[in-house]
Amino acid sequence: VGAVRSYHERVLDHYSKPRNVGSMDKNANDVGTGLVGAPACGDVMKLQIKVDPNTNTISDVKFKTFGCGSAIASSSYLTELVRGMTLDQASKVKNTEIAKELCLPPVKLHCSMLAEDAIKSAISNYYTKNPSAKSTNLGGT
Ligand code: FES
Ligand code: FES
Repeated sequence: VGAVRSYHERVLDHYSKPRNVGSMDKNANDVGTGLVGAPACGDVMKLQIKVDPNTNTISDVKFKTFGCGSAIASSSYLTELVRGMTLDQASKVKNTEIAKELCLPPVKLHCSMLAEDAIKSAISNYYTKNPSAKSTNLGGT
C-alpha cells in the first residue's frame, strides 16, 4: 500500500502542474470546443480539441477550468489521455476511468464527470462543423 500514491498526491501533481492549459481558435474548422457546467456545484470547464482530418485523431488538446482542484486535475489528466486517440476512442472515455487514476473520492466524482462531458461536447462540436468526419469515423471502424 505504501507505493500507491494517494488521492492527494495524484491530484496535487496535476493541480500544481496542469497539463495543456490554454485555448485555441474556436472558429478554426479543425477545432472542436466543449463548454460544460457541473450542476452539482456550478463549476465550468472549457475543453478544445484539434483534429487531424486525415486520420480523425486528436492532435492537440487544451482546457480551461473554472472549478475545484479535482476538476483541474481531471481535465489535465484527460488531455494527456485523449491526445492521439481517434474521435471514436475519445468519445468512449469514462469519468470513472479518470476518477480511478486520480483516486477521487465519491464526493469528487462529479468533477471527473465534468471532464467526460467536456470531451464529448468538444467532439460533438467538431462533428457539427465537419459532418463528413462523423460518417468517416463511424464507417471506419
Ligand atoms: Fe466547485 Fe469544488 S465545489 S470548486
Ligand atoms: Fe465542482 Fe469539482 S467540479 S467540486
